[in-house]
Amino acid sequence: MTITKAVIPAAGLGTRVLPASKAMPKEMLPIVDKPAIQYIVEEAALAGITDILVITNRGKGIIEDHFDHAFELETVLRQKGQEEMRVRLEKTAHLANIYYIRQKETRGLGHAVLSARGFIDDEPFAVLYGDDVIIGEDPAIAQLCRAYEKYGKGVAGIKEVKREQIQKYSSLAVTPLEEHLFNITDMIEKPAPGRQLSLYSILGRCVLTPEIFTILEKTPPGAGGELQLTDAMRTLARRDGMTGVDFTGTRYDMGNKLGILQANIEVALEHPEIGAEFREYLTGFIKTL
Ligand code: UTP
Repeated sequence: MTITKAVIPAAGLGTRVLPASKAMPKEMLPIVDKPAIQYIVEEAALAGITDILVITNRGKGIIEDHFDHAFELETVLRQKGQEEMRVRLEKTAHLANIYYIRQKETRGLGHAVLSARGFIDDEPFAVLYGDDVIIGEDPAIAQLCRAYEKYGKGVAGIKEVKREQIQKYSSLAVTPLEEHLFNITDMIEKPAPGRQLSLYSILGRCVLTPEIFTILEKTPPGAGGELQLTDAMRTLARRDGMTGVDFTGTRYDMGNKLGILQANIEVALEHPEIGAEFREYLTGFIKTL
């Protein structure tokens, strides 16, 4: 079955990037000249996803404005002859059918996904975490969708993380299936030191079947008192197995300050307008360090 629906949870508090995220959702923080969430919506659209539900909360209305038409702006750009930018803005409003729902209490990623139930109905769907930008030739979520079509099980985007970092992530029990693909049989969220199952962790993307909602409803709050999506996926993995895709592409964690800086520097170096100038600046600046 082809995946056409996606959920982007973007209702977190973003406490790790305060004060930048006080009035501005962290999902709207720019990487050079585009907000993080636009990279994510573009990735989904490239993968053939046509309908996207963004889970927002209080103060995130500017996400809706960003993916809407801006008639005054488009008129001014037309008058000034700035056609290229006008067309770019117009395209942003047509990337996909985008819907919004508010998560009324910040009770965790699992709780955010549960609020998508009415939108998803009875189909498999993609989840793209709103603060995880992945840049690469082959859209990461397309790699996961292909694995779903091949194996028919829930899929998680996975990567190996450093041993000293695994406690901040989830840890997976995996066995190899084929190149880049694994069978996931168990997982644990934020393992205590020495309790990790492997250094593979779920990062930013998954494809889930609608039964995840019934599981989420029965899942008690986990790490940090939040309803953890990983805890529900563990039930799925233990029961049916899940497929892990060690995706190609570079992931930037826009939920932490270092990730935001890395994303901006690496994207700026390749940027068609400022790339060459920025490279020259950076090369000179490095010599002063
Ligand atoms: P994070 O745990 O990274 O987001 O969730 P957070 O809670 O904003 O982080 P900090 O610790 O306070 O800095 C991953 C994704 O899930 C969304 C976030 O917006 C982010 O895109 N999320 C998280 C929700 O939509 N709802 C929640 O209740 C929690």
